[in-house]
Amino acid sequence: MKKNSHTLLQITMHLYAWSAIILLIFDFATGNLSPNPIQDLEQRTGRHALILLVLSLFCTPIHTIFKWGEPLKHRRALGLYSFFYAVIHVIVFADLDFGLAWSALFQEVVTKPRLVVGTIAFFLLVPLAITSFDIWKKRLRKNWKRLHQVVYFIAPLIILHYLWSKKGDILSLQGEILQPMIYGVFVAALLILRIPLVKKIFHRAGG
Ligand code: HEM
Repeated sequence: MKKNSHTLLQITMHLYAWSAIILLIFDFATGNLSPNPIQDLEQRTGRHALILLVLSLFCTPIHTIFKWGEPLKHRRALGLYSFFYAVIHVIVFADLDFGLAWSALFQEVVTKPRLVVGTIAFFLLVPLAITSFDIWKKRLRKNWKRLHQVVYFIAPLIILHYLWSKKGDILSLQGEILQPMIYGVFVAALLILRIPLVKKIFHRAGG
């Protein structure tokens, strides 16, 4: 077998990652975006960025629980795809929504906590994307792992940003908060599975 042949998982991952942008272009070209196309773009790119980030967090627990190593090889690609959609999400917001009117944009962000949270998450993603390459892994050594653990903080921030965007009330379970809550449960579970004690239990159970 050729060493560099692509696996089914790899092909599926790339197709899935590109699917959202292809669908967006298709819906744009055929006039099938919602009556509020900018909001549609913001929501779809934001959701896809989150899903890809959640998928990247799945890779390690899959290895821990099922001893299947291949997803680990695709963590970086999933993280970078997530960042790619986050960049489009932010560009749509800054350019299409606010026409790059920086002072109005700044005013909007600082007065809306959900946007403050989104902005913090975005700026934290930037160094992770930049340093995701092997050269940085070699340069930063132990600190690389520490730096990339920031994603455990970013993911809950994005859930919060999502919940808040839905103008829901978590305590009274009002608003369209079911979807963000489901993502929240996944993120919580994926983070719990990284706790050393929990990992140990799974290792033992796996023999
Ligand atoms: C500068 C940073 C960011 C800004 C200004 C921003 C802005 C927004 C806005 C305005 C919305 C509301 C759209 C609407 O329902 O009208 C939104 C929703 C959302 N954003 Fe962000 N965002 C930022 C960062 C991020 C990042 C980094 C992610 C994920 C990686 C993300 C994921 C989402 C998700 C999942 C939604 C909800 C989508 C839905 O309603 O289905 N955002 N964002």
